[in-house]
Amino acid sequence: MPPSDDNDARTEYEKLLRAAHQRLEMERSFGLTHVQRPQKTKAVERRPAAPPAPAPPQKEAPAPTPASPEALSKEEALAQLRKECEQCMRCQLARTRTNLVFGVGSPDAGLMFVGEAPGEDEDRQGEPFVGKAGQLLTKMIEAIDMKRSEVYICNILKCRPPGNRPPLPNEIAACLPYLKRQIHIIKPKIVCALGATASKTLLSTDKPIGQLRGRWFDYGEGVKLLPTFHPSYLLRSPWEKAKAWQDLKKIRDTLKAMREGKTEPRTLNPEP
Ligand code: URA
Repeated sequence: MPPSDDNDARTEYEKLLRAAHQRLEMERSFGLTHVQRPQKTKAVERRPAAPPAPAPPQKEAPAPTPASPEALSKEEALAQLRKECEQCMRCQLARTRTNLVFGVGSPDAGLMFVGEAPGEDEDRQGEPFVGKAGQLLTKMIEAIDMKRSEVYICNILKCRPPGNRPPLPNEIAACLPYLKRQIHIIKPKIVCALGATASKTLLSTDKPIGQLRGRWFDYGEGVKLLPTFHPSYLLRSPWEKAKAWQDLKKIRDTLKAMREGKTEPRTLNPEP
């Protein structure tokens, strides 16, 4: 090979090596100890037997009105809301759940994660994201130098759908007012929507998560929303972690900029 070809090949090789090194660093920050080979088939975020993605909540039940919530501390307002949720019978899931999975974390959190619905472990323990996906979420939080106890974690649904099936539109419509009140009480600076169900529901859009993730949206009341992949999807498709890591870094850097009083991210609004 002539010397210039030799140099080109070496530059290319060094570039690849650097990219591989950065990728491994990112994987390590998520707690990964080995690299999994991508599957040949195209990864799809929905479960195979899933019914169509829930449409944006249709007729949303009106939010129940609590007793003078503004007079309460955030902790008290959340405790009052939890009591209401414990008595809720707005959909069939109240009859099959073991425990209500209300939400966990700091009432003063600047960052809130919203997933889809409790799974088996969450239903048993009454806490969101405690299973395998939860362990990955905890690593994602720690990768941006935060603790699980500093953020707030909850779901679109507060009760487990039997067999972990995706939430039905009527269940989402019944439960969403509670989540909206949770967001209103906590007033996080940023909501990170985990996966398609949370992102589509909170943004009232049918756009696929692949088009939503990594983009800033305005949720109202000064709350910014950034969709990213769901940890369960990342467990099935670990090669997508690089994108989730980009999203998390955006959140980390934006929180820092907000704390320092610097400019906030420019937001978009999805067309319905
Ligand atoms: N998946 C979710 O969406 N939420 C949980 O709480 C656990 C797994």
